[in-house]
Order: sequence, then C-alpha cells, then structure tokens
Amino acid sequence: MDIGLSGKHAVITGASGGIGFETVKMFLSEGTRVTGTFNKSMRKLESLQDSWPDQLLPVKTDQTNEPEVESLFEQANERFGRVDILVANAGIANHEGVAIQDMSLKQWEKTLSVNLTGSFLCAKHFFANLERNKGDTASLILIGSTAGFFGEAWYSDYATSKAGMHGLMMSLKNEITHIAPKGRVNLVNPGWTLTPMAEEALTDKEMVTRILQTIPMRKTATPHDIGSAIVYLASDVLSGHVSGQTINVAGGMEGRVLYTPGEIEPID
Ligand SMILES: NC(=O)c1ccc[n+]([C@@H]2O[C@H](COP(=O)([O-])OP(=O)(O)OC[C@H]3O[C@@H](n4cnc5c(N)ncnc54)[C@H](OP(=O)(O)O)[C@@H]3O)[C@@H](O)[C@H]2O)c1
Repeated sequence: MDIGLSGKHAVITGASGGIGFETVKMFLSEGTRVTGTFNKSMRKLESLQDSWPDQLLPVKTDQTNEPEVESLFEQANERFGRVDILVANAGIANHEGVAIQDMSLKQWEKTLSVNLTGSFLCAKHFFANLERNKGDTASLILIGSTAGFFGEAWYSDYATSKAGMHGLMMSLKNEITHIAPKGRVNLVNPGWTLTPMAEEALTDKEMVTRILQTIPMRKTATPHDIGSAIVYLASDVLSGHVSGQTINVAGGMEGRVLYTPGEIEPID
C-alpha cells in the first residue's frame, strides 16, 4: 500500500536515540527524505548514510538553543526543500528519581527546557518554514509520555514537561490550518519502551514486574511500536482527517502501582 510518504520531507528530532532512530529507518524505507537531529553523537546515524545517502541529512542540534533550531530548519530546507512533517521526539529524563522537596531548580529547569521549550522551538520554526513554503498539508507529531497523563512519582519534572505537550498539541492544531489548510497536529504518548532512556529500569526485574501489573498486554513497547503510530499520523493517506488526537502506545496501561503488598502499612 502506498501511504503517500515517498518524496515528503520529515524533520525527526532525537534521531540518534532509541525511538527516533527506529522512526528514521521506517520513514527512509517509505522513501521519505529525512533530516534527523542528534545532540551529542552522530555515530548511529552515520550507519544509515551508506544505505540512504541521498535521503538522509543528519544535523547536530541542541534544541534548547534557538539559533541552532533555526539553523536546523534552514539546513533542512536547503537540502530537501519544504518541511512537510515534524516529529518532535527528542527528550531527556533523569535516571534517578527525586522527591520534589529534594529536586533542584536546575534539574527542573533543564528537563522543562529540553522537553517542553525545545519542542516549542522546533514547532515554532516548523510553522515558520510552512509559512515560507505554502502547501495544503503538513503534519506535526509531538512525543509525550504516559507520565504526562498518569503522573510519575519522583519524576515530577519529566511528567510536567510531557503533560505540557497536550496543551501545545491542542493549541497548534487550531493554528496550523491557518498556514496549511489540511495541516494536522497530534500527540503520541509512549509507555515504557526499551531504549537507552528506559534501559536501566527495564533491565531491573522487580521494576518490570511493577510496571507490567498495570498493563493488560503484560509487555513493554519496542521502538517500532512507537514508530508505527508516528508513521500513521504522518501519512495523509492513513490519517488525513485525524487531528488533535492523542495515541497512547502503552499496551493498555491503566496507571501506576503505588505500593507493593510489602509496602502497605494500613493507616487507621
Ligand atoms: N523510552 C521510553 O520508555 C519512553 C517512554 C515515554 C516517552 N518517551 C519519550 O520518547 C522520546 C524518545 O525517547 P527515547 O526513549 O528514544 O530516548 P533516548 O534513546 O534517550 O533518545 C533521546 C534523544 O533525544 C536527544 N536529545 C537529548 N537532549 C537533547 C537536546 N538538548 N537537544 C536535542 N536533542 C536532545 C538525544 O540525542 P543524543 O543521544 O545525541 O544526546 C537522543 O537522540 C522522548 O521524548 C521521551 O521522553 C520515551
């Protein structure tokens, strides 16, 4: 089935990470031209350049830095023309949980700055690119997290940054149509997914048991599971009338286990 992504141009942030890298491969396989960002190391993306030398442009971008984000879209536009799709995927999470009373302002600001402000900057320069390159369709896919919906004790900075994606998505879906009449904005909330970000938690057997207690499918996601939802939302053929929606890719997750039986001390 031709899902209409061949010849389109997608900017995918966090392309050097677990979900981003898999998503880049899926778009390349569809014939999409991809500008993929990395923050520290280009090594992973280099491995794709041999197979897709004419379809992939890696760009180093710290998305907390507006001139770098602006330059990302300039370089993307120069190489592959109008940016049709933005997957705002890059993000960070602290590996150690911290109670709010112990959380430094520096940590809070860093998480909000990369995850939420960084996505704002990417969306801003994506919309500016659309304004300069008029067209009928466009698709912005924001990447949140189930943490933004259920919350995440000890990771309130991360959960808050991801909850903010909902407000961004609901606002921008009403702005994009003023630039691209058939433009769409949606949100993908991954649940636990085996990537470098979640590796530490997902190789801890006790933690995995705790996580799977709230997931009817009793499994965590692969990056391919998340990439599939992203590809669906990017394709005007598959989801051309879908906008303002959140897809949770989390195996039916119901929430959080707050206490294990051994941790319960009944309170009068
Ligand atoms: N894995 C999960 O369980 C899970 C669950 C829910 C939501 N998510 C979300 O899914 C998205 C992808 O996560 P992942 O699991 O694939 O994480 P990952 O493997 O750690 O990848 C994160 C990516 O973000 C990039 N990045 C970090 N800081 C950046 C900055 N300041 N500017 C630009 N890019 C930056 C990293 O670049 P470098 O590697 O070059 O530093 C990397 O490409 C994130 O938004 C995450 O919050 C993940």
